[in-house]
Parts: sequence; structure tokens; C-alpha cells
Amino acid sequence: MPTTLITGANRGIGLALVREFQSNGHTVVATARDLSKAADLKATGAQLHALDVSDPASIKALAAALGGRPIDYLINNAGLGDRADMPSLDYDRFQELLRVNTIAPIRVLDALTPNLAAGEAKVAAFLSSQLGSIENTNMGFGLAYRVSKAGLNMGLRTAAHTLAAKGITLLALHPGWVKTDMGGEAAPVLPADSAAGLYKVITGSGASKELRFFDWEGRTLPW
Ligand SMILES: NC(=O)c1ccc[n+]([C@@H]2O[C@H](COP(=O)([O-])OP(=O)(O)OC[C@H]3O[C@@H](n4cnc5c(N)ncnc54)[C@H](OP(=O)(O)O)[C@@H]3O)[C@@H](O)[C@H]2O)c1
Repeated sequence: MPTTLITGANRGIGLALVREFQSNGHTVVATARDLSKAADLKATGAQLHALDVSDPASIKALAAALGGRPIDYLINNAGLGDRADMPSLDYDRFQELLRVNTIAPIRVLDALTPNLAAGEAKVAAFLSSQLGSIENTNMGFGLAYRVSKAGLNMGLRTAAHTLAAKGITLLALHPGWVKTDMGGEAAPVLPADSAAGLYKVITGSGASKELRFFDWEGRTLPW
């Protein structure tokens, strides 16, 4: 039975991913920054760990708690949204987006590389966004968010070369425009449908070890 670790799993796409991977027979290790506010997640029966991805000590504590436990699929889902553009940018918020969306997933990957290397599948997937595609950027909103996801994508393109030597595959993923607190009420895709698509993309990625940027339906996106 494969083991899958999912961050930011208490609501939204993360919670839907927990349910989807469990329904496909995975043992799920789920993290949330405040487990006292994670009733829906607790109800899934997933193994729980507290993790604030923006706190290096919290990441270190998770790695220590896992010890050498093999992780087959690592899903870096935790993230912050933001629609602001110039001249309304809040630069403290900009730094927070970079901490949570860009630096944190790379720090989690770095800390859990030994666990991934010990797993069978050796796949680390990252919830990026089509808004992080430089080529597809043709309108002005979400400047800090776009920068944070484009930065994540570049981090993955760089890390992929180093991690390939350990047999680890990285995937940058766009989950669709999903009806969550971040995506809002108007979003056309339900979290469960996004999670079902992402499950297929993540677990079906084994044949090629190359880093790719996919959407939830398996379409390749331009960087
Ligand atoms: N929804 C969309 O349409 C869409 C589109 C493209 C990409 N994405 C990406 O998909 C991922 C999930 O989005 P979502 O729509 O499910 O968002 P969401 O409903 O706002 O949920 C975000 C999750 O991330 C967690 N999180 C935020 N900061 C964290 C931190 N410092 N440490 C640990 N967890 C933290 C939140 O935990 P708390 O409950 O503690 O705040 C929550 O569990 C994000 O990376 C997002 O950028 C979403």
C-alpha cells in the first residue's frame, strides 16, 4: 500500500486529495497547521501531523517525527492566494506569499528527500497554478501570486536535475479553477473532481521521470 503525504490538508483541494488517495487504497499522512481546527480532516482517519510550512522548525519537527519512514508520493498543496495588482500591492503580503508558496514547498521537499528516496514511487507533486505560467500571462491581476508560483516552478526545474540522480520525479500541477475558499464561489471545478484528476496525473506519472507542468486533466502547460 503506497504512502502519500499531503500538506495543507484540512480544507479545500488538500482535504479532497486526502479522500481521493484514501479511496484508492493509499495510507495518507496529512498535515495541517492547526489540528484543533481540522475536524473534517480528523474524520477521514488519516494519520495527522501539525505543520506550518512557513516555519522551518515545524518542517524539521515533521521530518524528525517521520524518521526514515518511506513516502511514495509527497503532495505540497498548502498555499496562499492573492489577486492584488499594482498599485494596490501589499509588500508584507507579497513576502508572505513568497514564504508560503515558493520557499516553503522547496524546504519541505529538501527536508523529506530521504523519505522520498526510500519510497517506491518517488514522486513529489506541487500545487502550482496556471497563473504561474510566464508564457500564458496576458492580463494584470494577482502579481504577487503569479510571481510566487512562477518562482516555485523555477525552483522545481532546478531541483529536478539534482533529484533525478536519486530517482525522484517532480510534478508542477494546476488543479483547475476550483471552488474552495481560495478559488471562490464562481469556480467551475469541484474539489473532488479536481482531486480525482490530480490523482490520475500524479500516480500515472511513473513512466517518464521528467519534470512536467500539467493541469488536473493531464494537459501540458507552458512554463
Ligand atoms: N482553488 C483554485 O482555483 C486553485 C487554482 C490554482 C492553484 N491552486 C493551488 O492549490 C493549492 C490549494 O488551494 P485551495 O484552493 O485548496 O486553497 P484554500 O482552500 O485556501 O486552502 C489552502 C490550504 O493551505 C493551507 N495553508 C496556508 N498557509 C499555510 C501554512 N503556512 N502552513 C500550512 N498550511 C497552510 C491552509 O491552511 P489553514 O486552514 O490553516 O489556513 C489550507 O489548508 C494552493 O497551493 C493553491 O495555490 C488553487
